Amino acid sequence: MEGHKGVYQNSTELANIAGKPLHMNDFVDACLYGRLNLFLQGDTGSGKTQLAKDAMDYFPGKSMFVLGRNDMDTRELFQQINLGKIKTASSSQELKELTDKINYNLFVVDELPNCVPAVRAQLFNLFDGFVEINGKTFPIGNGYSVGIATGNIGQKFTESNNDLGRALKDRMHVTIDTDYFKPTAWDTFNILSGNTNPRVDFSKQSEDGGLEKEVLKAHNEVVSSEIPFEKMVVANYLIHGLDYVEVGGRPYSKTKMKDAWPNQVTNHGQGSDEALVLPVSPRAAKSILRLSQSFDHVLKGKGVSEDKIRENYFDSMMQAFKFVGAYSGILNDMAVREVYQNDKYSTMDAVVQATRAQYESQKENIKAGIIMAEEGKKSKKILDRFTGRWGFMRNFLEKAVEENSGGK
Ligand SMILES: Nc1ncnc2c1ncn2[C@@H]1O[C@H](COP(=O)(O)OP(=O)(O)OP(=O)(O)O)[C@@H](O)[C@H]1O
Ligand SMILES: [Mg+2]
Repeated sequence: MEGHKGVYQNSTELANIAGKPLHMNDFVDACLYGRLNLFLQGDTGSGKTQLAKDAMDYFPGKSMFVLGRNDMDTRELFQQINLGKIKTASSSQELKELTDKINYNLFVVDELPNCVPAVRAQLFNLFDGFVEINGKTFPIGNGYSVGIATGNIGQKFTESNNDLGRALKDRMHVTIDTDYFKPTAWDTFNILSGNTNPRVDFSKQSEDGGLEKEVLKAHNEVVSSEIPFEKMVVANYLIHGLDYVEVGGRPYSKTKMKDAWPNQVTNHGQGSDEALVLPVSPRAAKSILRLSQSFDHVLKGKGVSEDKIRENYFDSMMQAFKFVGAYSGILNDMAVREVYQNDKYSTMDAVVQATRAQYESQKENIKAGIIMAEEGKKSKKILDRFTGRWGFMRNFLEKAVEENSGGK
């Protein structure tokens, strides 16, 4: 489907893949296609609520808006989603009948940080397609649900000891800091000449009314498409390759270093990505793969050929890594502050550049490794090419060879 035509306007590029710029709207589309929860973080008045409202217009009658307030309790939330009767429902069967009727595809929570933790937890559950009642979970009556939340919580929220920060990292898959991607002057000229009502207008529907079928179709295509092998190698590099570090001249693992990372990284590693970024978790790697597949779908909608998309798998993965990674707590905060003017996206750009150089240096070896695996014949010469941070490929290729040689 073509990008949407909501009220929100912003022609600033967030990413460029295969020569096509991707804008804020495209990122929202990609998150909806991938069913990835999106957190819009940013200063007041930057259009976060407007952007989320535009997304709601895709799902008329099947999207729900919640304004986060600290005096709202779970009972009030349940009333809003017509679960007011759970008090009198006695059996699981009755509860199931009630929860089956919740028929929303998109939940928008404005000012999420205002919600108390208990309400927040239920909202995250709704994003993920279920409600929790007395410790039991009940799926809501819809095959597709996703959440967009907004909030302005500054830099604080990535700290792992901060309750809200943890919850956001666990449950929101993509975070975009809208302050870094402000509309251009041309955009704001247009925005201001349109009307001067400083509120988001909830009475009008955008021209996108009822695009839910297209979104659901795109979602099905994204989740059913096979993940290209090249993307799998990149995802595994982000999990294993980025874990590699040298301590006292010996290979070690950043994750195992815990709090000693990054301070105890050997001198020569301090200037490299060894001291700049932690590996991604398998959960984040899944989000990255999903977002990358969704980007590719958006590109297809913009008329980019399959060949062009295939040639740019690596870039697509790197842009997904940038936006899933920036606020996920993998960056060395001190380096972000001191070397990158506190700009997480510039820091991620540097990580992406280092990753690209690494990948380029191994391209031929990876090709040889894949051929070896396909032929099912182990070659020590080829396996030995994978050393240091690429050592993870040995384990993977050896197993692949075994499998393809009929499990001998
Ligand atoms: N990029 C934009 N395109 C079109 N309209 C915009 C844009 N940015 C802001 N606006 C308009 O400016 C007003 C304020 O935007 P909005 O309420 O969405 O900002 P916000 O980021 O949610 O602010 P807050 O943090 O205070 O909640 C609205 O009338 C909205 O339509
Ligand atoms: Mg707002």
